[in-house]
Amino acid sequence: MKKTYPNIRLRRLRATKSIRKLVKETTLSSHDLIQPIFLVEGKSKKEKIKTMPGIFRYSIDNALKEIKYLEKYGIGAIALFPQIDKKFKDNEASESFNPNGLIQRAIRQIKNKFPNITIISDVALDPYTSHGQDGIISKNKKVLNDMTIDVLVRQALSHAESGVDIVAPSDMMDGRVKKIRQAFENKNFHDTIILSYSAKYSSNFYGPFRDAIGSAKALGKADKNTYQLDYSNISDAIREVDMDISEGADIVMIKPGIPYLDIVSKVKEVTKVPIFVYQVSGEYSMIKAASQKGWLNERSIVMETLACIKRSGASAIITYYAKDVLKWMK
Ligand code: PBG
Repeated sequence: MKKTYPNIRLRRLRATKSIRKLVKETTLSSHDLIQPIFLVEGKSKKEKIKTMPGIFRYSIDNALKEIKYLEKYGIGAIALFPQIDKKFKDNEASESFNPNGLIQRAIRQIKNKFPNITIISDVALDPYTSHGQDGIISKNKKVLNDMTIDVLVRQALSHAESGVDIVAPSDMMDGRVKKIRQAFENKNFHDTIILSYSAKYSSNFYGPFRDAIGSAKALGKADKNTYQLDYSNISDAIREVDMDISEGADIVMIKPGIPYLDIVSKVKEVTKVPIFVYQVSGEYSMIKAASQKGWLNERSIVMETLACIKRSGASAIITYYAKDVLKWMK
């Protein structure tokens, strides 16, 4: 019999909703989603972020209330990002490893109240530097790799000491995973997970995030092209992933999401570690803006993007839509 029409009719398996469900190759569940949370100093604060309607900066007390709500809806993991007061910013990012800094206090209080929520903390200097770069800069504005690593290690250790479950270096310095892993071993943080932003592209999709943490103004017209990846490249991403795994990363991250799913599927082919994907701020804001204008159906578009990210090989997704998706799923 010929393996062609009419013996083969592919539409048979699409004929009813029930059949379509039986042959579905990927499914999205609430366990796959990580909610980012922006933090700000103070009390009873819930500040709007102009370029990200529906997303807020919370003071720790309000963040705790929000997390209670997220947990009720089934969120299992959150990623924390701070907006740091200008007066604490300098070239050395010295506030980044303050044991009583905003993030360190938040980690302790969240862990104390919600021991079952997995906390992911960002390890990078950009919220803490006066110039908005992810590292320390020299007189001629070069981002200094090895000096930056020393600070990143202190920052990561301060997060581990506060009780974080996962540190996520998003800085893109060479060798930072190795040094953080060594420091964790030396200080007996054997179980602290490193989720390395291995393939973090120098992307225009981070704009709204930089508004949210207040690094946009500091950065000005400068860019991050000397450390984040060129969006024209694939091999570079594979090399980054290889390097980070050999240095002790447990999980690798690829970001942004939707425009970079070819990278996710390539990495999935060549590596066995779990891959997380970050659906970043610009992706959120694009969908949100078009939905507010009535040009896109927000709910269907979001569900489609997340399914596509899973299909490409992600085991979990960081998305500003996590909370909404959980509400829609209920
Ligand atoms: C900080 C960091 C950035 C994002 C996550 N961690 C911004 C940047 O590198 O400029 C972007 C996240 C988003 O856009 O949602 N190193």
